[in-house]
Amino acid sequence: MPPLKKLHIGMSLAPTWLSGDAWRRPDSGVEGLYGSDLYLDIALRAEQAKLDFAFLPDSLFLNTTLLDSGTGFASLDPTLLLASIARETSRIGLLSTASTTFYPPYIVARQIQSLNWLSNGRAGWNIVTALDGNGNFGLSEMPSPEERYARAAEFTEVVRLLWESYPNEALKLDRESGRFADPSLVKVIDHEGAFFSVKGPLNLPRHGRVPIPLVQAGASDAGRAFAASVADAIFASTPDRSAAGDLRSDLRSRAEARGRRGDDIRLLPGLSLYLAPTRAEAQELFAETNARTSRERCLVTVHEMTGLDLSSWPADRPVRASDLPPPPEKVRSRTHSQLLRRMIERDEPTVEDLLRRPEVIGSAHWLVVGTPADAVAEIRDWATAGAIDGFVAFPGGSVESVRLFLEQVVPELSDLGLFRKDYAGATFFDHLSDN
Ligand SMILES: Cc1cc2nc3c(=O)[nH]c(=O)nc-3n(C[C@H](O)[C@H](O)[C@H](O)COP(=O)(O)O)c2cc1C
Repeated sequence: MPPLKKLHIGMSLAPTWLSGDAWRRPDSGVEGLYGSDLYLDIALRAEQAKLDFAFLPDSLFLNTTLLDSGTGFASLDPTLLLASIARETSRIGLLSTASTTFYPPYIVARQIQSLNWLSNGRAGWNIVTALDGNGNFGLSEMPSPEERYARAAEFTEVVRLLWESYPNEALKLDRESGRFADPSLVKVIDHEGAFFSVKGPLNLPRHGRVPIPLVQAGASDAGRAFAASVADAIFASTPDRSAAGDLRSDLRSRAEARGRRGDDIRLLPGLSLYLAPTRAEAQELFAETNARTSRERCLVTVHEMTGLDLSSWPADRPVRASDLPPPPEKVRSRTHSQLLRRMIERDEPTVEDLLRRPEVIGSAHWLVVGTPADAVAEIRDWATAGAIDGFVAFPGGSVESVRLFLEQVVPELSDLGLFRKDYAGATFFDHLSDN
């Protein structure tokens, strides 16, 4: 058997280790939530563990109904926060998120290229079409998924053209001749499309020649088609190994159909980790963290995602495929609603089990509640089955989960030959290309 490829591992700075009731722990450091030290500390430790990248998701709205018990999605601007982390780190990739539905492409091209300069080639862009926030941008409702993806495709094309419009070679900085740059190499892009009209060039030269990695989140049919055409990686929710394996092979064949190599697109699912020295402690950590995730909220989630109203069903009644009404016309994320339907069709869980599944209480991410050794075994299993190219770690419950992941799980994966021992290159793209 050929040796297994090395995994690509990202560390979410989201910070999931404060979510649910975890922020109430005495050592949570929650007071630092809107500063940079909390995140910098984790990014430095992730760099010490030689991870590919630190990652920040983003949203552009405040969910005030959740604010009573948690952040309600409030966060620092991800690109600004990563810029402050860039100065203190030297090797780890920095993956920021920017929405193609709300921002203008010129601003995103400039922000991400700025992060690339500030980090010496370590920036990446997580392309999202967003789930909410239309009211903050003059839109009475969210555009349809089709329109959002059509806009995302044109947006991404414009950003790439802008990055090319002032190539690094144009920068001369020749003191002797007094030539600062060669304007003949700097080109307008004169883009006129269905959504954007952008003249260019970008008012910032490109940093070096290595590409800035593009990551895409959203795995409906339209999302996959878009990812397969441009993305270096897809960040996905895959709660079980077969969902990951199916998505990975589908993405590879879609990429090949577009003349790319299957290896050009890497599947990096989110991995939610509740870790403790013993399984019993890990279970307790998970239960304590999610204790206030109310049954009512889970019932609403199931209803919104599938159209099923379970509020009067007995807890032990199985939910079957035949109970599922046709999918609601409007769902926030088709990816998440499809994952939930798929799980019901396959497992026929009881109402009680359904309401405790990661697809309902979390973001439908792959979930490990156990010891560091359990996490290693599970990751090894998914990797040897060829279901993933890596993952993005979302440690939950407490900072202890972060520590156990970086200090025990990652080194063990390295010892097994599943992860690098040291960085081979200097840029984020180098890390993603290093197998
Ligand atoms: C794993 C995952 C992560 C996502 N992260 C974000 C995010 O950080 N910010 C955001 O605005 N939207 C995020 N989204 C939403 C997607 O960009 C997209 O708008 C949504 O999933 C609808 O697309 P779909 O129909 O392909 O699922 C995420 C979606 C998925 C599946």
